[in-house]
Amino acid sequence: MSSKRKPLQLAVLASGRGSNLQAILEAIREGKLSARVAVVISDNPEALALERARQQGLPALLVKPQAYSSKAAYEQKLVEICKSYQVELIVLAGYMRLLSSTFLKHFLNRVVNIHPALLPAFIGLNAQHQALEYGVRFSGCTVHFVDNGMDTGPILLQAVVPVCPHDTEDTLAARILVQEHRIYPLALELIAQGQVHLEGRRVWIEDWEKGSVNLWPGIVP
Ligand code: GAR
Repeated sequence: MSSKRKPLQLAVLASGRGSNLQAILEAIREGKLSARVAVVISDNPEALALERARQQGLPALLVKPQAYSSKAAYEQKLVEICKSYQVELIVLAGYMRLLSSTFLKHFLNRVVNIHPALLPAFIGLNAQHQALEYGVRFSGCTVHFVDNGMDTGPILLQAVVPVCPHDTEDTLAARILVQEHRIYPLALELIAQGQVHLEGRRVWIEDWEKGSVNLWPGIVP
């Protein structure tokens, strides 16, 4: 998609490996995503995401919740950082904390998350394990806006993968991750192009309505 808009300013919050951060950075480099990662923030000193950001010359900040007197004080610090980098969209990419209204009220409908299951199934931690234990035949991933609940916000994109008979948590997670890396940059690009509109908890995508975005490659809806 070509764009005359200014690149969307992102803050990426990540607690771990940072492979989704990497996928986002690659999409930007390849011209598939009109955005700029203004800052990467982690709550975890061990997060590989911080290392990946530093390698790309990006501001990579460790903000330890333990250093603050309360969750509200910690989140207020996150707000200050995001505002100081003039961030327009907050991207949670394996960020393992729940954000409260202290943070969210400053970025209404401007926080997105990726979850490794087909929401509303299997919220919270260990979603791939939950899917295997439940015995579903399909799972996948969901990009959604973040509200005050746990993985409850309006759904932007989803991708489906089969659950195979001999799957372990790791093999299923790896299959889902391939799809995460595909749909997260796509979802961000749709937002960057101003094509995403919220109506209550339903999300409308302009070009999808016009038929020029294929959200389901290989599937005719
Ligand atoms: C991803 O699978 C993401 O969906 C999941 O953490 C992983 C982070 O991987 N997020 C959640 O479970 C949030 N509830 P990454 O650090 O390599 O991007």
